[in-house]
Amino acid sequence: MDHRARPYRSVLYIPGSRARALEKARTLPVDAIIFDLEDAVSIDEKANARQLLTKTLSAGGYDPRAQIVRINGFDTPWGTADLEAIIAASPEAILLPKVNSAADIEALAARLDAHTETADTTIWAMMETPRGILNADQIAGAPRMAGFVIGTNDLAKDLDSRTHPDRTPLLTSLQLCLLAARAHGLVCLDGVYNSFRDEDGLQRESEQGRDMGFDGKTLIHPAQVAAANQVFAPSEAEIDLARRQIAGFETATASGQAIAVVDGSIVENLHVETARATLAKAAVIARLEQA
Ligand code: COA
Ligand code: MG
Repeated sequence: MDHRARPYRSVLYIPGSRARALEKARTLPVDAIIFDLEDAVSIDEKANARQLLTKTLSAGGYDPRAQIVRINGFDTPWGTADLEAIIAASPEAILLPKVNSAADIEALAARLDAHTETADTTIWAMMETPRGILNADQIAGAPRMAGFVIGTNDLAKDLDSRTHPDRTPLLTSLQLCLLAARAHGLVCLDGVYNSFRDEDGLQRESEQGRDMGFDGKTLIHPAQVAAANQVFAPSEAEIDLARRQIAGFETATASGQAIAVVDGSIVENLHVETARATLAKAAVIARLEQA
């Protein structure tokens, strides 16, 4: 299965306890939603959120957005109850927090294997602990895995690192996750930008994540959606260049050459593959936005 065939530009966390936010998300132009039962829900609200979310997901109304449920870890008092409740709603994907090793994923996969409702449910991993980052390769290769979500807040906490605008303290971790995700064909989503009223900061950090290779950005507030959708979609200039690279390469190969020159730069077969991927992604997004 090609997990990266659909776009994941904008991926919004919604606390499973907030009925109004759950309702609002049915109309927001996001590519995916993370319905959260973990850190966005207080201990007092855990049981209510579980019940509200199960009911809400069964009612539906979120297509064509990808729908991912973040449960609590199995080392907490809520993880097993979360999973048991959510299985009834046949979730498309379950996001496991604070994953440390492939064994964590295998344990969840075994539980999903035991129910027909979750025959097609994929697993996503929060990459947010030092041990998890060091084990990224084995985690990415575990059963049912479809994607990584980087938990930059938890990671910075565990690393004892400080916040820098250019994120240099986190770059090694981000890139280890990207390497593992790409090696196994998984989606890889960048962490959240906490200052949700700071548009310039969000734009900068989103562009940095895009340039590193992330598929999209996780978001905490509807005000962040438009920027992520724009940054992670191919621009008009990129689409135009891709078309000209393909055309230039076809002309070159027709005359027996292996390399074309477009805008002063060489275009080889590998660049044409990237150009075709850019056009395919643009086409999927255009179809989605017309629907
Ligand atoms: N998803 C969907 N809708 C959301 C939303 C979200 N994450 N956050 C806010 N909204 C909605 C509100 O319900 C409100 O809708 P309304 O106008 O129809 O009433 C509207 O957007 C404006 O919200 P606003 O008043 O600006 O924000 P707030 O003060 O209610 O909430 C936060 C701010 C940060 C507490 C809230 O955005 C939030 O809980 N975000 C998610 C945090 C999270 O999931 N963290 C865990 C992962 S890091
Ligand atoms: Mg976390």
